[in-house]
Amino acid sequence: MTQDNLMSKIVSLCKRRGFVFQSSEIYGGLKSSYDYGPLGTELKRNLAAKWWRSMVYERDDIHGIDASIIMHSDVWKASGHLKNFTDPLVDCFNCQARFRPDKVPSVAPGTKVEYKSAKDKKKIISSEVKECGYVCPECGSTDLSKERLFRGMFQMPLGAVDPVQEFVTKNYDSGLSKEEFLKELQKEIADSSVYLRPETAQAMFVQFLNVLNTTSAKVPFGIAQIGKSFRNEIVVEHFIFRSCEFEQMEMEFFCEPGSHKNWLEYWKNERLEWYKKFVNSPESFRLRQHTEKERAHYSNDCYDVEFLFPWGWDELEGIASRTDYDLKKHSEASRTKLSYFDPNKKDPETGKDGWRYTPYVIEPAAGLTRLMLAVLCDAYKEDKQVDAKGEEKIRVFLKLDPSIAPFKVAILPLLKKDGQPEKAKEIAQALRKKGLHVSFDDASSIGKRYAKHDEIGTPWCMTIDGDTMEKGTVTLRDRDTTQQETLTVEEALAKLIGFLSL
Ligand code: GAP
Repeated sequence: MTQDNLMSKIVSLCKRRGFVFQSSEIYGGLKSSYDYGPLGTELKRNLAAKWWRSMVYERDDIHGIDASIIMHSDVWKASGHLKNFTDPLVDCFNCQARFRPDKVPSVAPGTKVEYKSAKDKKKIISSEVKECGYVCPECGSTDLSKERLFRGMFQMPLGAVDPVQEFVTKNYDSGLSKEEFLKELQKEIADSSVYLRPETAQAMFVQFLNVLNTTSAKVPFGIAQIGKSFRNEIVVEHFIFRSCEFEQMEMEFFCEPGSHKNWLEYWKNERLEWYKKFVNSPESFRLRQHTEKERAHYSNDCYDVEFLFPWGWDELEGIASRTDYDLKKHSEASRTKLSYFDPNKKDPETGKDGWRYTPYVIEPAAGLTRLMLAVLCDAYKEDKQVDAKGEEKIRVFLKLDPSIAPFKVAILPLLKKDGQPEKAKEIAQALRKKGLHVSFDDASSIGKRYAKHDEIGTPWCMTIDGDTMEKGTVTLRDRDTTQQETLTVEEALAKLIGFLSL
């Protein structure tokens, strides 16, 4: 299986089995917008729950919040996003592609290149690479626009009044030149605009004091959040890997200045190890340190957890040392002291008892929707099986860790009679009461049902047959080995509950 092939098989499985659908599909779909179907929703929720468990429930130094997506626009002014959250953008005049010049390979200026004319496919154009040092990544053309800056945040008006209509009504006869009119209009729109958050992080800085004052938190401590973020991405790519609407799992860890290097070391290792615990190929996860040029405006060091996607190594999570940048910026802009007082420390400047300082921050920031794609790539397996007729068949299965599998077990009555469906429903209900997501499935032949549950990653299938009714035994089939064992109903229930409560 080639890696290109793997990606198209995953996209097809996601659609066929109800993991991910194109948004607004019946209207032709909306580029880069996806809806998570019944199984995708479960997988995503299980991944989020796993992150929350390791970040919040298993520790006593991290508190969770759930902040609003729309925040005061001054937040984005203070954080630097309004100024810095921009990407360079270039248009190709030949094929009309739009791309980020900082993401394309460089080609030495002056290099002779040839490309096909988009208007006349038979025409080959010869040209030289210009000063910019790149060509169009789609068609290889050198006929490119200048670089422009493109704002990555979605802007929208807040309130009942349409600011454009208001402005035009007021200034229709004002005698302003076209340029002045446009400038004033843009200012009016900006003044009445809010932004969809491009990261969940800022709310955790803005709510630093409220969390500190309402919990017994002491530095070092963290604030965690899972939620949607929005970026007006120039290039959306690789299915749900890069989209305009996505989910993040971020944690801001506030620590004493001077301790941040140790905490960065701690968190980068902690986060890498977390992934390795529930995947099949831990060697497909690695850390990569950012070069100075790559780092965001707020960061003095940063590592990415990268995953070996079908197209190569790419980012899954960033672990950034954000210094005291954000708390200081919000302190200045809001005139609120976002600092911490430690009565047990001496102030390093004065030598006096008690130290008030602005904490430094280490931020592990992971993409939830991106992680879902990574675990699907990691779990997709094919093996050869011999069917009942003795023919060799390719079996597809998702080798998902049971803790993240959408269904934990499928309960399958062999026949739709002799009390088997009723017994199967009774067992399914007993497991549901224990909190497991269970599928009752009597839809088709037992072979087809096994194949379906292999493909959606259900770790076990429990078959209810004549022996269940007579002797109280069931067969439990393992997804990965396809081996079946016969157990009493009680043994099977105890085994499943034992596995899944880990
Ligand atoms: N608060 C820091 C921050 O947002 P980031 O590296 O820009 O850092 C963190 O984003 C993670 O969010 C990324 O590692 C990635 O997993 C995910 N992410 C970012 N942009 C995304 C997009 N357009 N689509 C899907 N996931 C995205």
